[in-house]
Amino acid sequence: MIGCGYLGAVHAACMAALGHDVVGVDVDAGKIAALQSAAAPFYEPGLNELLADIQARGSGEGAGDRAGEGGHAGSLRFTTDLAQIAGARAHFVCVGTPQRRGENAADLRFVDAAFASAAEHLAPGDLIIGKSTVPVGTARRLAEQLHRTNPDARLVWNPEFLREGHAVTDTLHPDRLVYGIPDDEQRDATAAVLDDVYATPLAGGSARLITDYPTAELVKTAANSFLATKISFINAMAELCEASGADVTELADAIGLDDRIGRKFLNAGLGFGGGCLPKDIRAFMARAGELGADQALTFLREVDSINMRRRIRMVELAREVCDGSFLNKKIAVLGAAFKPESDDVRDSPALNVAAQIQLQGGNVVVTDPKALANAEHRFPDLQFEEDLTAALTGADAVLLLTEWPQFTGLDPEATGALVRTRRILDGRNVLTPATWRAAGWTYRALGRP
Ligand code: UDX
Repeated sequence: MIGCGYLGAVHAACMAALGHDVVGVDVDAGKIAALQSAAAPFYEPGLNELLADIQARGSGEGAGDRAGEGGHAGSLRFTTDLAQIAGARAHFVCVGTPQRRGENAADLRFVDAAFASAAEHLAPGDLIIGKSTVPVGTARRLAEQLHRTNPDARLVWNPEFLREGHAVTDTLHPDRLVYGIPDDEQRDATAAVLDDVYATPLAGGSARLITDYPTAELVKTAANSFLATKISFINAMAELCEASGADVTELADAIGLDDRIGRKFLNAGLGFGGGCLPKDIRAFMARAGELGADQALTFLREVDSINMRRRIRMVELAREVCDGSFLNKKIAVLGAAFKPESDDVRDSPALNVAAQIQLQGGNVVVTDPKALANAEHRFPDLQFEEDLTAALTGADAVLLLTEWPQFTGLDPEATGALVRTRRILDGRNVLTPATWRAAGWTYRALGRP
């Protein structure tokens, strides 16, 4: 596994759990040291337990009797020494493709560097498997490059669909596996190696699709664009609900019952953030432009705008509730992570709102069960408070911006006893308005009366 971030560390642990012998490599020595001691450098439910369990097998404790899900006890080790990938049959590239500074396009420096350096350690017949989310056309370019240096190695594009917060389950039980392999005489043999890697999920019913390179790359960007569009669609409906006095949560429930539409990803509110959806739709638009097909994706610009408008609207709503000004007001922001069960704050809508309110003079206090260290790193000027009670105490308004269970389960009476003024803004439409209003709270949300 080359690259041990959110994707690679989880993939490494899960492949070992499936019974494979895995070596995870990263240039970041701190990350590798943490993973070696079963303490992932990010929060992902179940990951540390999995790392500890597998590494105990590797050290001989119970190695014989604790077989992986595939029947063979896998092993897992982490290193900064790339040369240790030699001897593996399948080399997964799991490095990041962040947004380029000042541009919409993806930054492929890490992918290019990983492929170039891995090539030095490949043996004839080895597979190198791209998992990173890349602009369509990247795999073909990398395959041509690989053919020049390692004519007997094969490249597969095998996109990853895991969600943060559910990464372990999503990797062990994927709904589909996509293999991007050119249609030539070696296709079946190449697919067979991947079938071996994924034997357990395949036996468990995961669908398997074999496509060419560009289709495999597009499956990932198209899926993320569809999800982003679904969220922005319901958020656009939320704007109409606000304008007309309707309730977007009831609307979503009602349209979601049509199984052609489905209720999933129709939760209106503060919109999407994180390290994937925002940068992936932008990179997709940039790539479409390069291919001369930019018109096909101009709608994604609107998807992006609707999403960013939600953050501005949330700040406006909060200011309105605070009688027109944040000055001398304590604003408790519940949530820093871009979504619950994660400590990821990349493009976090919650932190974006918190920072805007602080810039408008509010005394903002942000609390989050897992993401405060990362949040502080990105927004050193914001005030953070680990203790939820302390964050709520004396607040003039409470903004629920990430739907952690600790926040959605708050009791209106007990919370009311802590704050100075009973005003709550439900940025994720997860509270029952009637309950809060009955306890004397001013309740406001995006897209609800
Ligand atoms: C996403 C894709 O779901 C995953 O398949 C891909 O591999 C990586 O990108 P992730 O970024 O982990 O995964 O988060 P996801 O669960 O998709 O949520 C993204 C954002 O959308 C979050 O900020 C979430 O709060 C928001 N969201 C999600 C909504 O606002 N409403 C919804 O109904 C669903």
